[in-house]
Amino acid sequence: MAGTRGEFSSRLGFIAAAAGSAVGLGNIWGFPTQAAGNGGGAFLLVYLILAFALAYPALMAELVIGRHAHANAVQALQGIAPGANSRRLGTGTGVVGFIVASLILSFYVIVAGWMMAHALAAVAQLVGAGALANWLVEFSLSRNLLFTGLFMALTVRIVQSGVSEGIERWSRRLMPLLLLSLVFLVGYVLTLEGALDGLKVYLLPDFQAVLSPNLIIRALGSAFFSLSLGVGTMLVYGSYISDRENLPRLGGAVTLVDISIAVLAGFLVLPAMYVARHNGVEIFTATGTLLSEDTLIFTVLPALFDTMGVTGPPLALLFFFLLTIAALTSSISMLEVPVAYVVESRDVGRQRAAITIGILIALVSVAILLHFEWLFGLVISLTTRYAQPLLGFVYCLFCGWLWHRHSILQELRKGSPGIESGLFWKVWPTYVRYVCPGVILLIFVSSLLG
Ligand code: PHE
Repeated sequence: MAGTRGEFSSRLGFIAAAAGSAVGLGNIWGFPTQAAGNGGGAFLLVYLILAFALAYPALMAELVIGRHAHANAVQALQGIAPGANSRRLGTGTGVVGFIVASLILSFYVIVAGWMMAHALAAVAQLVGAGALANWLVEFSLSRNLLFTGLFMALTVRIVQSGVSEGIERWSRRLMPLLLLSLVFLVGYVLTLEGALDGLKVYLLPDFQAVLSPNLIIRALGSAFFSLSLGVGTMLVYGSYISDRENLPRLGGAVTLVDISIAVLAGFLVLPAMYVARHNGVEIFTATGTLLSEDTLIFTVLPALFDTMGVTGPPLALLFFFLLTIAALTSSISMLEVPVAYVVESRDVGRQRAAITIGILIALVSVAILLHFEWLFGLVISLTTRYAQPLLGFVYCLFCGWLWHRHSILQELRKGSPGIESGLFWKVWPTYVRYVCPGVILLIFVSSLLG
């Protein structure tokens, strides 16, 4: 089996691919809209704390297990389980993880489809096809079905071509471009009137809100979603890392890139909301809550581009195109989870597995689109707010309690021979054993009670 598995061809390739998985709609759509709807600065503060203190250690748990096993999540967890019960827990976690990854993909392709439609709308505007541009930005079943299907087809196509040719090549080329265009847009939006109000909301935390259980659980979900945790994605990507690499450093780089892009996107989206408000676009209801949290950014950003005169449509095109690419480097990492499992354990070819699973997940997306009002939000909150942190909790149990500490050390030593004497090994093992599972549980219990 080992001979047929792919591997990232370089360190940069892995960082680009893992950061490609991490950076996506979660950073540029999920985090800023959640921050805007949940206290701005308070959300940012809690998100930052949780991302470094809980999500990074949980990411390390997945990467170490993955590279040790060089296998998909189910086989990897079975492999490190010491007894029959923990083997069952491993199988259950791997399988639930791939179901959750598939469900995440089912709503993700819908949102990514909107991004694609907005990119094409900018093209339509550029060539003077106004009616088409309107159809592309309006929320209709036909548009949603078409673009969901198109985006899923793209995802399947890349996953079919395997690790280094498909996933790595794409991520490496386009990620830096995304960063640049974000920086540019932030620079622009900050010059506009109204932006300062948004900046204040984003940067000045209301310390009372920081303690709200509801805010904390959302920020936890947001951090786990944005780092692609719990569902086996990072485990599978970890399984493609070569033994020469220093895992804590790689994980740290991915975390830093991911968090920075989310925070940066906040500097775009929150000010843009207030610029839009300044220009007469309604963003709050009478009771002060945000109008349609999930889709508001599709009102606010186009309104921002409209203020730019002739440069608006080309910039909108660039921005939504890059967002589509960011979404694509994430969606391929979700599809890779069930595909790696089926290919490695069922003796099915990669091509067949990718297309079959892609079609099945697309059918779930169609169901969501047909019952959008109640299914869309429900699937998002069940998968990202609850399932991901809980699965992350189990990964911490595996690393902290079930897997032999000496084997973990052996695995980490491969790419960093002096690891025992470093800070990471002094803190992390105790940390994933007590702190991470303890705090995740605490957050859950308090959110259920409060
Ligand atoms: N991290 C991705 C994003 O921010 C989403 C994701 C979740 C990817 C789970 C893979 C697995 O958009």
